[in-house]
Amino acid sequence: MNAIEIKNITKQFKDHVVLKGIDLTVNEGEVFTLLGENGAGKTTLINILTTLSHPNSGSVKIEGNDLNQGDIIRELISLNSQSNTVDDSFSGYENLKLIAELRNVKNVAAEINRVSDRLNLETFLNQKVLTYSGGMRRRLDIAMSLIGDPEIIFLDEPSTGVDPKNRLEIWKIIKELRDSGKTIFLTTQYLDEADQLSDHIGFINDGKIVLYGTPEEIKKDANNQFSLTVETKEVEKAEKILADNNISYTLNENSVEVSEIDSQFVLDTIVNNKIDLLDFHKVETNLETIFLNTTQRK
Ligand SMILES: Nc1ncnc2c1ncn2[C@@H]1O[C@H](COP(=O)(O)OP(=O)(O)OP(=O)(O)O)[C@@H](O)[C@H]1O
Ligand SMILES: [Mg+2]
Repeated sequence: MNAIEIKNITKQFKDHVVLKGIDLTVNEGEVFTLLGENGAGKTTLINILTTLSHPNSGSVKIEGNDLNQGDIIRELISLNSQSNTVDDSFSGYENLKLIAELRNVKNVAAEINRVSDRLNLETFLNQKVLTYSGGMRRRLDIAMSLIGDPEIIFLDEPSTGVDPKNRLEIWKIIKELRDSGKTIFLTTQYLDEADQLSDHIGFINDGKIVLYGTPEEIKKDANNQFSLTVETKEVEKAEKILADNNISYTLNENSVEVSEIDSQFVLDTIVNNKIDLLDFHKVETNLETIFLNTTQRK
């Protein structure tokens, strides 16, 4: 069974349409990462999937359950939301206890021990959260989302504002959770994080999923671009040649990018037309570049 099946979800706030038809499947036991610019609608989608908000249309199944089966769904999932949900004036232990009681956990003490062990909270568990560092808070935050042993864990930017050491720690926890069979739905601002952790990535742009695949697939698809740089005064001439030959390209100042298939022809034609070629190279694509290209294209 798929952990999450999203069909044609739309959501608008007044006349602002944020989600314009999202189709997406998340497999059981995988890390799925949703990427998109600030304001793209990541949190909006997570809120719908976690039953905090209703879509305007479309359907969602969480482990086969429709969104109107909210009670069943809430047993299966947990949400580590972008806005901090920890209460500062309580200790870590008290925060965990509150969540355990809300989730109707049977043996609260044993459950707190289990998650506290997993995230190494022992040394500061009984201190007030007020005294925690950012990293300690984040660990408590993640611990809270593990209470009740949910099958699907939503992590909305879990590593934003976390220092590199603690980020690695969070990565390790996410990998361990996945290895123990949990499904993770992640959003992040860090493309290296998406690259490292994800089984699949979806890019959301202009209200739709515009790119989907494994990190390798996404990079491979984008990795067949070649860049040719010409003298600035000859850009127009180069563009005309490309247009005359129906070759699709992207222009960036005085460089054109063409696909691998066209690259040899374009190179020959530019040289034959005596256009001053300053540079010709294969474009090394990382997720960062793909992300920027995807969001700018729209
Ligand atoms: N309750 C609301 N009422 C009105 N507009 C909203 C509401 N919630 C979100 N929006 C708008 O919907 C759009 C998407 O917001 P959302 O928080 O989902 O983006 P995001 O991708 O999570 O961004 P970020 O990376 O900054 O967290 C934004 O333009 C936001 O202003
Ligand atoms: Mg958000």
